Amino acid sequence: MVPEMTATSCHRKLHRCKLCASRALQGGNSAESDGLPPERRSTEVIGVTPEPARNFIGRKRVELSAVFRHKSASAASDASIPWAVPANSSEYARETGGVIVAFYLPIPHSFGRTMPAKTRLRSCVLAALFCGPSATQVWTPMREKKDGESGGPMFGGACKATRPKSPWRYNPGMAEALFSEMKAFVGFSEADAAALKSVKSQITPVLSDIVVGFYDQLLKNQGTRNVLLEGPGRLARLRVFLLEWLEQLFCGCYDFAYYETRARIGRTHVRVDLPQHYMFTAMSYIRLSLVRVIRGFGLENEMQVLGALHKLLDIELAIMNDTYREDYVDRIQAAERVQFEQRISESEHLATIGQLAASLAHEIKNPLAGISGAIQVLGAEMEDGHAHKEIIAEALRQIDRLDAAVRDLLLYARPQQPALQREDLGQILAHALILLRQEPAFRGLRVRCEGITMPHWVHVDGAQVKQVIVNLMINAAHACEEGGEIECRIESVSDSVRLVVEDTGCGIRPDVLTRVFEPFFTTKARGTGLGLAICRRIVEVHNGRIEIQSVPGRGTRVIVELPRAA
Ligand code: HEM
Repeated sequence: MVPEMTATSCHRKLHRCKLCASRALQGGNSAESDGLPPERRSTEVIGVTPEPARNFIGRKRVELSAVFRHKSASAASDASIPWAVPANSSEYARETGGVIVAFYLPIPHSFGRTMPAKTRLRSCVLAALFCGPSATQVWTPMREKKDGESGGPMFGGACKATRPKSPWRYNPGMAEALFSEMKAFVGFSEADAAALKSVKSQITPVLSDIVVGFYDQLLKNQGTRNVLLEGPGRLARLRVFLLEWLEQLFCGCYDFAYYETRARIGRTHVRVDLPQHYMFTAMSYIRLSLVRVIRGFGLENEMQVLGALHKLLDIELAIMNDTYREDYVDRIQAAERVQFEQRISESEHLATIGQLAASLAHEIKNPLAGISGAIQVLGAEMEDGHAHKEIIAEALRQIDRLDAAVRDLLLYARPQQPALQREDLGQILAHALILLRQEPAFRGLRVRCEGITMPHWVHVDGAQVKQVIVNLMINAAHACEEGGEIECRIESVSDSVRLVVEDTGCGIRPDVLTRVFEPFFTTKARGTGLGLAICRRIVEVHNGRIEIQSVPGRGTRVIVELPRAA
């Protein structure tokens, strides 16, 4: 349930008076015993963080020292409020049915470590009463000056490491300047603010019709409809949000607090995966509806009101898109971070495999060569038709298999730096096919090859790329039954050269397809599960791309793209 009292209105009603502050301090944190008038008693402190918790509230990274909850709308028990309020505290408040007032105060460096909880709580209460905390508005905590430091907002200090500075990244001072600049650019003046406020009482009763029409419109479109109907109660919730948003358009006060509330919307839209392009048409609908209604009033100052409205809606759109972009980039960076961490853990994993592979190579490869030689000698001494000749042949086949497995392991775990040269991919393919001619897996299969008559120049390590082709061709052959077909072709695509290996084999199930590049993942009874992992590694090292498309029962297509050489 959305609390009846909005965060902003809460902020206005809550404690502002210094007298009350000192009374509250005398009474500790009990809101009942603080002697405050009832409307001032509506906020209670529900906790002080054991450590100042680093958190993102609204769009700011802050140190959270205390959490307050609005009592009038509380539905959750105190115990259910975690110490560190989730990233978007107002969202959390909505979920728990209360308004969480997270609140921040000047934080000495030793805060939380040396200051007793009771003292901290009192400081929190005192500052809360002075500042008037609000769920949507958060004060930038000021750090105490350390020797030789300028002090100043947390953004300049402790957060630097985690939020790299960039020209457009959020920072309250900059946001305030940006908002002023936006207003100046569109020429939004005090007179515009007054003009909008002058129609507030007339327009408020019809805003809910606009809200209903707006969402009816969005429901007609498949893309927006899916977003709106996701999860129970979303549409109803949205109607409340938008109505409130529309009412505030005519509030007459467009200060930084106004900006802060509006700035959150872009973030919310990113969170719900709403594509940004909807914003423009959606704003257009709102604009047209409001203009139509205002025209109907027959106002004397109609032109001025409409002019002010257009300016404000332009600003709103700019805010929404700006914060949308910022959050979107945050998201991408987070995804990149995950990828990076995965790579790190992969390379740690590899280092371990590398050590293992090296000792395996040492312990297995050489004795294996010895055994193979000895068996070949024994085989050579046997006459043709000897009863054990077949056993010897099978033993040699198994030795070859073991040898290939150790070689794959070494290849994957100890990747060689590619020795790049200008090579014709067609020639590499042709050599690979010659190598494979004797492979038993290709018996009974038809292999076609296209696009090798003219050169396709790439900058590659020929041996490594040949390895990729061999692995892909062997996979294709294993997937086919007798009579199956494998086609390999080379094509030119803009600035790349593409190698396609296509088979008419059994195909790959979708759940398997998502894992085929994972090292050691295999569905074959025999096989190390390293073939495709090696291919991917080699292709990526050449700044290329590998993709697999497959239809179970119909076949598989592997596409490798390598940058074209000049
Ligand atoms: C100019 C147009 C729009 C305005 C002014 C607007 C306004 C808002 C506001 C004020 C919120 C609440 C933000 C918060 O407090 O965190 C919100 C959330 C949301 N909006 Fe929009 N919105 C617009 C366009 C759209 C469109 C086109 C869609 C498409 C379906 C959409 C879907 C949503 C959703 C799904 C949420 C999250 C609701 C939830 O909490 O589950 N909005 N919007």
